[in-house]
Amino acid sequence: MGISYLEKEQIFKIDTMNSSYACAIVEDFLMHVYYGRKISDDDIRYCMRIYENPFTPALNNRDRGVFLDSAPFEYPTEGVGDYRNGCLRIRTMEGHEGCSLSYVDHRIYKGKPKLEGLPSTYGSEEDSETLEIVLKDALTGLVAKLSYSVFDGIDAIIRSVSLVNEGDNTIFLDTVLSSCLDIDNKDYELITLHGGWARERHIDRVPIGYGVHEVSSVRGESSHQMHPFMALVDQNTTYTDGNVYGFSFVYSGNFLSSVERSQQNTLRCICGINPKGFSWKLNKAESFNAPEVVMVYSSCGLDEMTHSFHDLFRDHLICGANRSNKYKDSSRPILINNWEATYFDFDTDKLIAIAKEAAKNGIEMLVMDDGWFGNRSSDNMALGDWFVNEDKIKGGLKYLVDEVNKCGLKFGIWVEPEMISPDSDLYREHPDWAIAIPGREATLLRNQYVLDFSRKEIVDEIYSRIKRILQSANIEYVKWDMNRGLTDIGSYALKNDTQGELFHRYMLGVYEMQQRLADDFPGILLENCSGGGARFDPGMFYYSPQIWCSDDTDAIERLIIQEGTSLVYPLATMGAHVSDCPNHTVGRVTPFETRGYVALAGTFGYELDITKIPEDDRNMILDQTKMYHKYNDLVRNGDYYRITSYRENHLNDCTQIVSKDKSRSVVTYIKVLSRPNCRSVNIKLRGLDSNKVYKVLCDKNILSVNKTEEDMLLLHGDTLMNAGLFINESSPDLYGDFKGALIELVQL
Ligand code: DGJ
Repeated sequence: MGISYLEKEQIFKIDTMNSSYACAIVEDFLMHVYYGRKISDDDIRYCMRIYENPFTPALNNRDRGVFLDSAPFEYPTEGVGDYRNGCLRIRTMEGHEGCSLSYVDHRIYKGKPKLEGLPSTYGSEEDSETLEIVLKDALTGLVAKLSYSVFDGIDAIIRSVSLVNEGDNTIFLDTVLSSCLDIDNKDYELITLHGGWARERHIDRVPIGYGVHEVSSVRGESSHQMHPFMALVDQNTTYTDGNVYGFSFVYSGNFLSSVERSQQNTLRCICGINPKGFSWKLNKAESFNAPEVVMVYSSCGLDEMTHSFHDLFRDHLICGANRSNKYKDSSRPILINNWEATYFDFDTDKLIAIAKEAAKNGIEMLVMDDGWFGNRSSDNMALGDWFVNEDKIKGGLKYLVDEVNKCGLKFGIWVEPEMISPDSDLYREHPDWAIAIPGREATLLRNQYVLDFSRKEIVDEIYSRIKRILQSANIEYVKWDMNRGLTDIGSYALKNDTQGELFHRYMLGVYEMQQRLADDFPGILLENCSGGGARFDPGMFYYSPQIWCSDDTDAIERLIIQEGTSLVYPLATMGAHVSDCPNHTVGRVTPFETRGYVALAGTFGYELDITKIPEDDRNMILDQTKMYHKYNDLVRNGDYYRITSYRENHLNDCTQIVSKDKSRSVVTYIKVLSRPNCRSVNIKLRGLDSNKVYKVLCDKNILSVNKTEEDMLLLHGDTLMNAGLFINESSPDLYGDFKGALIELVQL
């Protein structure tokens, strides 16, 4: 890792373990030069190609516009000649839009700065380094500080931008994106994650034609539908081979990630806050911070990109709001949540009965979901009335929590702080606290409105109500839900010319409240959630080490959701539960055991009425909880490999996790659909030590060997990786659809 400034050539070079990035001052423009596999400092100047058409303005100012519309820039602005989508679009009080940034200064220093009020990656002076480049628009006095940080041992570059109004007049920022990468096209394809409720983060891969291809959200949250991530890949990139440029935006609100293929067949990749619905008034001397983008380059396929994101998020993002949170680096309690068990129909007795049975089976925490407060008997009312409903929670919350604790279980609670039901005391008292356009009836979604979290007094009041609840009993976990997107963007508090700030100010309010929670309750485990996984994004991981991944708990649907999610996010961040069958979302019946294998690749927990499920299923829970503890270190800290994908082959799904020292590995194999009369399936493992011998242990008899051999199956790492394991799908242990097995490798 290292950042240098090559003075003579005016080049900035950023090196990570295996990649190099370079930009340069050309005349007074900051131009992009290179991003890819590591190259030598001496040759960067060659890569600049400054004598190639189009010439620079010093050589031919007559055609300055040609240069501006085709050269690769680090932070392109709109309105003065670059017709491609830019990162910065401003408006002066006179209504003019142009802006032109010139190099002013730079500094390189140890460490990684925090972004005030925003989630951001963190590092120390020992493990990180930062480059800041200052650019200025001479006419308006607007200053842009571009920041690039790198961390030891991780192939990622973190970018962000801060704008300061050093001029005399107010400027409106109509677009402020966080990063741009202008590169030559090599017939790249675009990978993004798309979905819907209960179908989050499915992988999509398409060729990049001319024009603009974007994924975005204007829902006020990162959303079920699209995701703040994209990757450019070679046409033949796989999990193990090929070039990959990955971009992940550390933000939870409206975003835009787009690729523009230009007339010259170059690609402009930009990421940041969605300009739609955004405008920020920047008065004299004020500043604005745009959130971070993480860029990852891999020359060895998608698995390598995944490892970089996982390592970065694990070590430098998750729980950044409170780095001493005990769950940042340790095993989390196995929870049982009563949502799919009872929905709104529960009381103290029912919850205690679930806790008692759960305790006998190795479960460690009971989470009381939606329905415990105000007069909330369905999802039609009471959001905002954060007072315990003692008709349901008879004896009060403290009594319930104490009883659950007596069973040996921790206690967790559900809240949805950002919302207000029209049928609530809060709304009757403060109808103007909901986001709405005055005079227009706001759109209901799940019969609720969104509170205007851009207003401090609202955040303060909601926080104090929830804080009181959390202080009233021994509550050790909070599930923070958010069940609708924003519409009718209007705030009763913002001025006419600052209404365009509402979306971003709303996010700042949410982040502020989550930060307060982290400060005041450092021992609490926070799990974010948004109607399933609509706000499963890097921004939220700064405050919570896990996020509910999807309301779809069906084991087979989850294979696809978890494949897409784990492409970017560490396994132990994905809220994953074993639920009852027929599955409540899709009606599918899968073996209880398989549901356990799939949930094991996430946080692992239960979402069912343990007092009512079939006895055979219940009898498996104790073993499953032991399995969780046996493998949890690997799941939390290991390198994850995608071996086969049910999404691609429609037959089976196989993942592998390998400890960093390569001494242990666990492989999960799910046979989704049975086929008659087939040879065994060959799975080639990865990440092992070629020369070491591994003992192969499987909880089923499926490895194409007889029972005696199976008890002592020893294979070298190179055999496991090159010849692979043979999975005998006709084994009685895999007979039928949706069956699975777990294979453990232990180095001798
Ligand atoms: C949506 C969540 O994803 C569910 O798990 C559950 O908490 C419900 N909301 C409760 O309303």
